[in-house]
Amino acid sequence: MQKRTLSILLVLLQFLSANDPDHTNAEKLVAHKQKSDMSYKQMMQRMGEAYHMIQTGIINQNKALVTLGASLIQNHPAPKNKPWSIVKKEDVAAFKQTLLAYDKLLHEGTRKLQKSVKTKTPNWSLVNENAFALSNHCVSCHAMWKENLK
Ligand code: HEC
Repeated sequence: MQKRTLSILLVLLQFLSANDPDHTNAEKLVAHKQKSDMSYKQMMQRMGEAYHMIQTGIINQNKALVTLGASLIQNHPAPKNKPWSIVKKEDVAAFKQTLLAYDKLLHEGTRKLQKSVKTKTPNWSLVNENAFALSNHCVSCHAMWKENLK
């Protein structure tokens, strides 16, 4: 009887920890992405190049270049190590929360940009605004974390 109670408790605990959003979701999010051999920094450098493509595409009114840059952001891979390995131990939970929130913002912002450039004759001012809005997510995450790494 006691054994049974214990095993029920264990199952309950497993269930609770598997549903801990702070932990499991960030893990799942990263596991969901294509694996790569890049460090987090190298992955970010590719993000920078992708954003540059978008800007050049807008200035040149080149739909294909904007689309390419956007898809590089949309399909960015996971770095070789867990993203939170770049922050201090005490900041891991907070960085995981940031990842969850900003991944969403980044992909929604990019989707909006993709949509605005997909039309036959894009409104380049609108495309530009959407690219700027997207860059605000990059900039605000950097403001929070770039000086707070290990
Ligand atoms: C979840 C937060 C986050 C978001 C969102 C984010 N970055 Fe970063 N980025 C970082 C962190 C943290 C670093 C520092 C990495 C390091 O030095 O190891 C960084 C570094 C960079 C660097 C510098 C790489 C180097 O050589 O030092 C570039 C370029 C960059 N990011 C581009 C972007 C672009 C473009 C976007 C948006 C499309 C973006 N990032 C979105 C967190 C983020």
